[in-house]
Amino acid sequence: MRILVLYCHPNPESYGAALHRATVESLEAAGHDVDDCDLYAEGFDPVLSRQERLGYHDLATNTAPVQAHVDRLKAAEALVLVFPVWNFGLPALLKGYLDRVFLPGVSFGLVDGRTQGLLSHIRKVAVVTTYGATRWRAFLMGDPPRRYCTRVLRAVTRFTASVTYLAHYDMNRATDETRAAFLERVRSRLSAL
Ligand SMILES: Cc1cc2nc3c(=O)[nH]c(=O)nc-3n(C[C@H](O)[C@H](O)[C@H](O)COP(=O)(O)O)c2cc1C
Repeated sequence: MRILVLYCHPNPESYGAALHRATVESLEAAGHDVDDCDLYAEGFDPVLSRQERLGYHDLATNTAPVQAHVDRLKAAEALVLVFPVWNFGLPALLKGYLDRVFLPGVSFGLVDGRTQGLLSHIRKVAVVTTYGATRWRAFLMGDPPRRYCTRVLRAVTRFTASVTYLAHYDMNRATDETRAAFLERVRSRLSAL
């Protein structure tokens, strides 16, 4: 499969960076064609401008400011997101990518005011993420990133798309053992994506 990896972490020496490397290595070793999009390294601008908001629903022109990213997304058969949870959400660069690239006519269409997913070429979604909080605390907060990925991303991709959500919770008390075990889990699950 052609797989678009969206990676978002500012520090190349972080655990998140290690998860990103494990992700790309596992997918490539399994024979996939990986388009590795490192949003920080590529200097992605997450700000949706006034002009973009004004032209948001103009399907003839709305992709122009981010055409290269739209092309990469449209070429993908699977999508893999790698990011840390910040403020029980996605880091700003990744959120901005979704605001600016998941446009009407690209990821969804409006038919009689109702949205329809358009990313039917994406048949698998996987998420690799880390939380400082425990799973229980995240659950009490509604776990917005898990909901976004397992519900919203599923709604805009192929209706049969599977979403694999891999999370290391409780990073505030992580040990070498828990980090190594999660890296191994990521390698094993993504090798079989
Ligand atoms: C700006 C910021 C906001 C954060 N907000 C949350 C949060 O709301 N919930 C949570 O569980 N962890 C939160 N964390 C903790 C991160 O999820 C944790 O530091 C990260 O998963 C560890 O991975 P890393 O060492 O690769 O960055 C936050 C961290 C930062 C830097």
